Amino acid sequence: MYKIKVNLAQKDYPILIKRGIINSLDFEIGRIYKNKKIAIITDHNIKGIYGDRIIESLSAYGFQIHTILVNPGEGSKSIQVLSHVYNQLLDIGINRKDLIVAFGGGVVGDLAGFAASTFLRGIRYIQVPTSLLAQIDSSVGGKVGINLPRGKNLVGNFYHPESVFIDPDLLNTLPNRYLYDGMAEVIKYACIRDKTMYEKLLSIESKEKLYENIEEIIYSCCSIKKEIVEKDERESGERMLLNFGHTIGHAIEKFFNYETFTHGEAVAIGMYCITRQSEEMGITKKGTSSLIKRILVQYNLPFEIGEIDNSRLLESIALDKKGEEDILNIVLLKEIGAGFINKINKEDIGEFVSHL
Ligand SMILES: NC(=O)c1ccc[n+]([C@@H]2O[C@H](COP(=O)([O-])OP(=O)(O)OC[C@H]3O[C@@H](n4cnc5c(N)ncnc54)[C@H](O)[C@@H]3O)[C@@H](O)[C@H]2O)c1
Repeated sequence: MYKIKVNLAQKDYPILIKRGIINSLDFEIGRIYKNKKIAIITDHNIKGIYGDRIIESLSAYGFQIHTILVNPGEGSKSIQVLSHVYNQLLDIGINRKDLIVAFGGGVVGDLAGFAASTFLRGIRYIQVPTSLLAQIDSSVGGKVGINLPRGKNLVGNFYHPESVFIDPDLLNTLPNRYLYDGMAEVIKYACIRDKTMYEKLLSIESKEKLYENIEEIIYSCCSIKKEIVEKDERESGERMLLNFGHTIGHAIEKFFNYETFTHGEAVAIGMYCITRQSEEMGITKKGTSSLIKRILVQYNLPFEIGEIDNSRLLESIALDKKGEEDILNIVLLKEIGAGFINKINKEDIGEFVSHL
């Protein structure tokens, strides 16, 4: 088992990473929560695979379990679904001493965390992330929120859980596309902070080997995120490093209406393109973009958008940045394992995305 303690000015909380920890969730929750009532927020997919097992064991321990179900997918991070969650919490009679458990991928985690942060001005919650992305990224760091019709994550909060319980065995049922989607963020951590992890990832040649090493990989990613979040919880400085590949990635996702590329795939293309450019400019060590391409291919991720006229995409990136401040922060690499924040003039963004 790996244990990480997140130490913040207002709150400390543990992240426990252990194969099979889901089987002792009753005991783990019982150690930190002494009331009876728990609202588990989850999606239909997770409920179908793990719901009965969890509900039975928590009930047998003596908890009163109420399940709030949402549809799988990004559509559930909406005001309508949030309102449904609030109504269910009222129906159940959840009060400020009770507990919410977010049991699912990043969508459930962001939605349930935001509901917890706002319902009755804030009640306690626990994260039990089930997708790779949620286990290495979204369940750690306290960002919670929902989307608005005009954009993603436009309503949100910083609100940390009481504890995060990560069971790598849950990934056995995760569909492949989501597994590799999460791997893009794993690769991001390696690129910005951890050359040894990059080499480790390169040495893993099959999905089976990846699963053998996944507990340690999750630990490395969560440790990097913890360290960055502790220094800069509200993303005014170092936390921006976690956005490596995301300026281009977000633009690609949006340009293709969130249909063609998953978030991880778009970030993968973003990491490669910006590094190819910074390498040509002499900012990044030669050969770094080839190393990124190699690892992306190994994990079934794209490194380019393919044959399209990219001028409209470049225009849309420039347009996207129009409302922002004159100086933009973009994340570049000195080499693998060494990311840094580079300040550029807004007008110069085109130069950095010309390899799309
Ligand atoms: N809060 C943050 O810091 C942060 C960081 C990164 C991403 N996010 C958010 O995370 C969301 C994406 O998260 P995601 O990729 O986990 O998406 P998701 O929650 O939609 O999960 C992906 C799919 O996998 C299924 N699934 C999840 N775990 C499974 C399992 N163990 N077995 C079988 N199926 C499983 C889900 O039902 C869903 O269909 C986005 O909304 C993004 O904005 C938040």
